[in-house]
Amino acid sequence: MDSIIEKRIGVPKLRDRIVSAEEAAALIPDGAVVGLSGFTRAGDAKVVPIALVERAKKEKFKIDVYTGASLGPEVDHYLAEAGVIRKRGPYQGEKAMRNLINKGDILYVDAHLSHNAELVRQGIIGPIKYAIIEVCAITEDGLLIPTTSVGNSPIFAQYAENIILELNISHSDTLIGIHDIYVPGPQGKREPIPITNANQRIGEKGIRVDLDKIKAIVISEEPDAPSLIVAPDEETQRMADLLLDFFRSEIKAGRLTNELMPIQSGVGSVANAVLDGFKESEFENLQVYSECLQDAVFNLIDAGKVNFASATSITLTAEAQQKVYGNIEKYADKICLRPQEISNHPEVVRRLGLISINAALEVDIYGNVNSTHVAGTKMMNGIGGSGDFARNARLTVFVTKSYAKGGAISSIVPMVSHVDHTEHDVDVIVTEQGIADLRGLAPKERVPLIIENCAHPDFKDQLWDYYNRAVEATGNSQTPHILEEALSWHINLLKNNTMKKNVEVK
Ligand code: COA
Repeated sequence: MDSIIEKRIGVPKLRDRIVSAEEAAALIPDGAVVGLSGFTRAGDAKVVPIALVERAKKEKFKIDVYTGASLGPEVDHYLAEAGVIRKRGPYQGEKAMRNLINKGDILYVDAHLSHNAELVRQGIIGPIKYAIIEVCAITEDGLLIPTTSVGNSPIFAQYAENIILELNISHSDTLIGIHDIYVPGPQGKREPIPITNANQRIGEKGIRVDLDKIKAIVISEEPDAPSLIVAPDEETQRMADLLLDFFRSEIKAGRLTNELMPIQSGVGSVANAVLDGFKESEFENLQVYSECLQDAVFNLIDAGKVNFASATSITLTAEAQQKVYGNIEKYADKICLRPQEISNHPEVVRRLGLISINAALEVDIYGNVNSTHVAGTKMMNGIGGSGDFARNARLTVFVTKSYAKGGAISSIVPMVSHVDHTEHDVDVIVTEQGIADLRGLAPKERVPLIIENCAHPDFKDQLWDYYNRAVEATGNSQTPHILEEALSWHINLLKNNTMKKNVEVK
């Protein structure tokens, strides 16, 4: 046996369980509920899913797939297109998967990412026939060491009847020690989660399982698919500058200090770019308590701005993968990966007093946020962890460019076409146009701030026209709306590919 493999499988009896990806894939029965490792394209099982794609060419079968969050193309593209997936949860971000969901070919359960573990405990997700988990090592004392994400792997491993491991030897074993696995006990008998600082480790360095459940180990050298976010631009830099100025005014008001509070920053290009804009700021000794560490966090560590970052996954562009994984020793004592029920736990988010920065698709004139659905019906990605953080953070910020699709779409609309974050959970909106601080304001006080500060100039008159008529039509009610017209901008978009001119709604 290859000495690297022997070293990475610290429990001798497990070395006999090495099989091919095809043999492992053949174990999974038709109709099985399968729990997969992986979170935002990081740390996902890759070779067994591709073997399942091959199996599907010879045999018809379906499985339900639950993961930490979005996976790379092996599952959310190839396995999805092979027609193998009946149901998918709790988050995805791949075009092929999105199309199949929106065609009705795959059922999608879009869920708060901190909730999954409880759903597994309650048997709502399950019984899990197989967990397939990517690891970089199994220690001599039998701990499974995840790779670049932890996600839901601990709970899947605990509850699954059987486990298949993908031992990925392309990852350095210096990853050992960056994970912190803490699994809460049953509700009703549970102790408080003992995290009072983002940099605290409270658990074990790996996942403890019943080793008899491990039915197969497959050797892999497949790297994580790189993240596809686009680089910061002038508009995202402007959004970062606006947010930095806002923090300065909060410091002046005595509500924040120069170290701010632990920062959570969401997935996608915009949230990453806004955080990246902190590089040139005066803020230092920052901490990150987030679910996913994107390129910007490592740029801020390099710039000496962030001194510790906790999350459940690391998702990087190809360039950043080379920088970070080529020098993982440099970052190892500054990062920590936890199960997603801990990285996103409301108890910890509220205790630490996070500043939460997530991206919106659209925001309405009262501050309700849609993060998931295009024109109310088509799924984009999912709510992910944004709800876990938005509801519980000390300061909840949503960022979005004021327009989409070359200016045809206004991201500020009369009424959002789907609500993910209600007006009660949203404190601050930032676009490249400006910033609206909604805290302590009644709905009608928010309207001028959102329209004047955040909307694109092309849509301001249209928004004012709607609002003024809504005030008149409702006799100045608490939250004025003309219900027949509230979604007319989206109807216009569907019919005419633009929100620019309201069409008559019949
Ligand atoms: N209507 C229709 N499409 C819109 C839109 C709107 N109001 N606003 C943006 N879009 C489109 C963009 O045109 C782009 O489309 P493309 O991929 O075809 O180019 C796509 O949505 C992504 O928008 P972009 O502006 O590039 O932003 P992003 O990469 O930062 O993603 C979200 C924004 C909202 C989709 C993404 O952040 C997300 O999925 N959020 C929900 C989950 C979440 O917040 N998790 C974080 C918790 S830690």
